[in-house]
Amino acid sequence: MGRNNSGEIAGVFESLSNECSRLRLMRIIDEYLSRNQASLEAYENARRLMPSGNTRSALYWQPFPLCMRRGEGSHIWDVDGNKRVDFNYNNTTLILGHNHPKVIEAVTEQLTRGTVLGASTETEPRLAEEILGRLGSADRIRFTPTGTEANMQALRVARAYTGKPLIAKCLGGYHGSWDAVPTTPDAVDIPQPVKDNTVYFPYNDPEEAEALVKKHKDELAAMVVEPTMRDMTPRPEFLETLREVTADNDVLLVFDEVISFRLGYRGAQGYYGVSPDMTAIGKIIGGGFPVGAYASTDECMGPLQIPDATLPEVASPRLGFSGTFNAHPLAMTAGLTVMREMKPERYDDLAVMGEMMRMGLRKAFIEEGVRPFVGGAGSLFFVSWTDKEVIDHESSLTADRGLFNIFNLGMMNRGVFILGHPNVSVVQRREDIRAAVEAARETVREMKPLIRERAPNLRS
Ligand SMILES: Cc1ncc(COP(=O)(O)O)c(C=O)c1O
Repeated sequence: MGRNNSGEIAGVFESLSNECSRLRLMRIIDEYLSRNQASLEAYENARRLMPSGNTRSALYWQPFPLCMRRGEGSHIWDVDGNKRVDFNYNNTTLILGHNHPKVIEAVTEQLTRGTVLGASTETEPRLAEEILGRLGSADRIRFTPTGTEANMQALRVARAYTGKPLIAKCLGGYHGSWDAVPTTPDAVDIPQPVKDNTVYFPYNDPEEAEALVKKHKDELAAMVVEPTMRDMTPRPEFLETLREVTADNDVLLVFDEVISFRLGYRGAQGYYGVSPDMTAIGKIIGGGFPVGAYASTDECMGPLQIPDATLPEVASPRLGFSGTFNAHPLAMTAGLTVMREMKPERYDDLAVMGEMMRMGLRKAFIEEGVRPFVGGAGSLFFVSWTDKEVIDHESSLTADRGLFNIFNLGMMNRGVFILGHPNVSVVQRREDIRAAVEAARETVREMKPLIRERAPNLRS
C-alpha cells in the first residue's frame, strides 16, 4: 500500500496534496466536531482518567469517539442529542434492538427478586436448554460473563480432554483479548513460550489448514475458527475441509460463534451445515448483558464433569472454572427472552435485510463510480476500502483504514452509526436501510476527491 495505513486522520491529510481533497476532508471533520461538542468534552474528561479515554480499545476512533446517552428500537442518541440509526448494536449484541419491551419487562421482574444470588437460578438451565436445542452439535453448555472467557474455557477444556497443548487459529482471527489466541503472532505482550503453543493458518485456505493439522496432529488440541469473519465468508469446502481433517486427526474443531451465532436459528453451523466439536457463543444470548457460553458433547465436556462417587467418597472434576458473575441472573433472563423471541423466520427476515443493505451499498457505490469491497452474510455487512475481494487476513490488510475512518465519520454526520461491526437487527425498518444507503451514497460523493487521490484503484 506504500502509504501510512494507520487510519489516523493526520496521516490521511498528509497523504493528500490536492487542495480539493484536503478541503473535503476538513469539511467532514469540521462537521463532526461541530455536531459533537459534548462528546468531545466527555472524551477529554475521560482521557484524564483512562488510557485512550476508554476501557474498550475497539471503541476508540479519530478524532474522538461519541459518548452515548440512550437507545430505543433501532436508534441511539448521543450526549449532544444527535439521533442516529444504529447499525452497530453494541458490536452485534442487540439482535432485538435497544430496550425491547419484553426484555425490559423480564429484567425488571428479575431485579425485583435481586441482582445476583450466589447460586444458580431457575433461568440458567432454561437458557441452556433453549441454546442446546438449537445447536445440534452439543449436549452440555457452560456460561461465562464474556465471549473471551467462553473461548478461553472451551480451549482449556479441549486441552484437558485431548491432553495436547497446541491451538491452531486463523491469522487475524479475534477470539477475545487473552494470550493463547493473539490476533497475529507478533503480539508484544505475550512471552515466547506461550506463543509457541499457538499455530496459524490463513482463513479460507483449506490446503494450508490441512497441512497444519497433519503436521501438528500429535500436539494439536483444537483448531478454532469463526465460521464467518466479519466481511470474510467461507469459500465452498473451507469449513468442510476443517471438519474432515480435524476429525481424521483427533483434533477438536471449535467454532467461535460469538458473533456468527446470529446468522441463523442454529447459528452459523446450521447456516453452513458444518458441525463443530465445540462452540463458543456470546453477544445476542445475553440480551444486552455481559455473557458468553461454550457448548460441546458430553464426552468433550468430560473434564468438567464431577465423576459419579458413593458417599463418603468425595469426587471432584479434573477441571473446574469458577466466576463470580458466571450465568448472571440478569443476563440469563434477558438472554432467554431474546432467544424465545428469535423464531426461525426472524433469521430469514434478518438475512433479507442484510442482503438489502449489501446490495444497496454495492449499487450506490457503483453508481458513484467507486468500488470498495462490500462483504458479510446474513444480518452482517461490512465495507472494506480495497479493490480486492476480502477472503483472509492478507487481503483484509489491503483495505485503506484512513478511508474507513472517514467514511464512518461521514455516515455519523448523516445520522448513521455503523463502525466496526455493522449489522441489522429485527427492529430495523426498511426505511432505515434506505436512509443508510443514501447516507453512504452522499458520503462517498463527498469523499470522491480523496478517493481519487488516495486510492485511484477504487474508482470504477
Ligand atoms: C469472534 C469473537 N470472539 C470472541 C469475542 C470476545 O467476546 P467478548 O467481547 O464478549 O469478550 C469477540 C468480541 O467481539 C468476537 O467478535
